[in-house]
Amino acid sequence: DAKKIKPQTVAPFRPVAVTNADALTLPSGYRYQVLAPWGEKFTDSGREIGFNHDYVGFFPLDMLQGGQSSTDALLTINHEYVNALFVGGDTKERTPAQVKAEMEAVGVSVVRVRREGSEWKVVPDARNRRIDALTDIELTGPVRGTAPVKGATMVKGSVGNCSGGQTPWGTLLTCEENVDGYVKAWAGSGYEAMHQGWVTEIDPFEPTWTPKKRTGMGRFRHENVAITVAPDGRVVGYMGDDMQDACVYKFVSRGRYNPADRAANLKLLEDGDLYVANFGNGSWVLLDYDRNPKLKDAKGADGKALFGSQADVLADARASALAVGGTPVDRPEDIEIHPRTGEVYVALTNNSKHGNYFGQIIKFREAKDDAAATAFLWEVFAVGGPQSGFASPDNLVFDPYGNLWMVTDNSDLASNPIKGFHGNNAMFFFATEGPDAGKAQRFAVGPVDAEMTGPVWSPDGKTLFLSIQHPGEDSESLDKLRSNFAAKPGTNVPRPTLVAIEGFPGWKA
Ligand code: FEO
Ligand code: CA
Ligand code: CA
Ligand code: CA
Repeated sequence: DAKKIKPQTVAPFRPVAVTNADALTLPSGYRYQVLAPWGEKFTDSGREIGFNHDYVGFFPLDMLQGGQSSTDALLTINHEYVNALFVGGDTKERTPAQVKAEMEAVGVSVVRVRREGSEWKVVPDARNRRIDALTDIELTGPVRGTAPVKGATMVKGSVGNCSGGQTPWGTLLTCEENVDGYVKAWAGSGYEAMHQGWVTEIDPFEPTWTPKKRTGMGRFRHENVAITVAPDGRVVGYMGDDMQDACVYKFVSRGRYNPADRAANLKLLEDGDLYVANFGNGSWVLLDYDRNPKLKDAKGADGKALFGSQADVLADARASALAVGGTPVDRPEDIEIHPRTGEVYVALTNNSKHGNYFGQIIKFREAKDDAAATAFLWEVFAVGGPQSGFASPDNLVFDPYGNLWMVTDNSDLASNPIKGFHGNNAMFFFATEGPDAGKAQRFAVGPVDAEMTGPVWSPDGKTLFLSIQHPGEDSESLDKLRSNFAAKPGTNVPRPTLVAIEGFPGWKA
């Protein structure tokens, strides 16, 4: 229980310098191992690890028996998107074979890993599997079978899998973020945009359990879900819509979490209330067609009603949020909950529209520390820029001491003013209390063009799993590669991969 662990606010490493090296640069005393790179076969049927690793979930193998193994686990790895140069080959007209290769390289990998001696290994297991753009997935909740999804109850695939979250009952929530590009890229394969853009729940322990899209959590550019349980047992999920001038949301389940009833827990996210944050008055505003009259009154530019049902409200949650006074913010990326204080931290990555090139991390505290409350207070935690040394905060993860670890994503700003102080994307450590609270300390720097994503700890704090996403992404051709990171021996093509970083002291009570 993280609440019992005393604060330890001194970084357990000597910070590294800014660099543009094509390497994963770590502090002295730390090392990494390439684990589960793109293309590695890992299932009984010969399926391969997908491309562009993002969020990683760590599920101790003995979790459902009450254990928390730090050396034997099912990992879930999101595969956010493909780079056609590396997957299937880059031509303007995509052949059916190329489209198939791309559809099979996205989604999620469930992969068993075990620490043997001082090495992590991918282990054969009947639960190893791929969820990709062709997997059957069930729609659940208020939008199931309705007009916005063309009456569908079952759909194909989960794509744009960016960050995510884990539930206390041992499932993955994978978040479908930038989904619109797929419809264009895979034109002709019948890809339906409205079937993507949701939160999908996957049971890594039970391959026969059909993955479920939780439509009650709304459709937008889902970055992640940070899950907690309110004092009354309702399950609460905080979510960001990663788009310029988009909002922060909260889902509160109708039912209550019962640690002894996993079958019931697997239905908790089917039914609940969706709220949007109003940062002007610190309130959560309900997105319910029957209970918030503003939604019935909302009219488009043509004077017609914007919404006619709760399915309409959820299917265009962004428009609903703005119609009820949700506050547009500067691209909410990852959200995490402080393990000791319960405060909720949000990475606002940047917003070039407003000249916010460096982003900031904010935090808020719910009224009476009740995650299901409808009021909160917020403040700024850290601000990006030359002074602090970081820019474009993206994924966040806490350690049980309450220190925040953050990775940056400086990749998509048109004229990027970070050059000169930032170098390659990096990972930073912040104490959240003590004399250095809010001060960014650089722990790691990634290879050329790469973003580091999906950080997750083993429960004992001795291993940090981190994804190295899109190394060499800006290469013009296979003859002019900008990175060779994690290339197969004897080749020079960079591979997105998971790495296992060690050298940490581990948690001490
Ligand atoms: Fe896929 Fe918003 O990061
Ligand atoms: Ca992200
Ligand atoms: Ca996170
Ligand atoms: Ca980003």
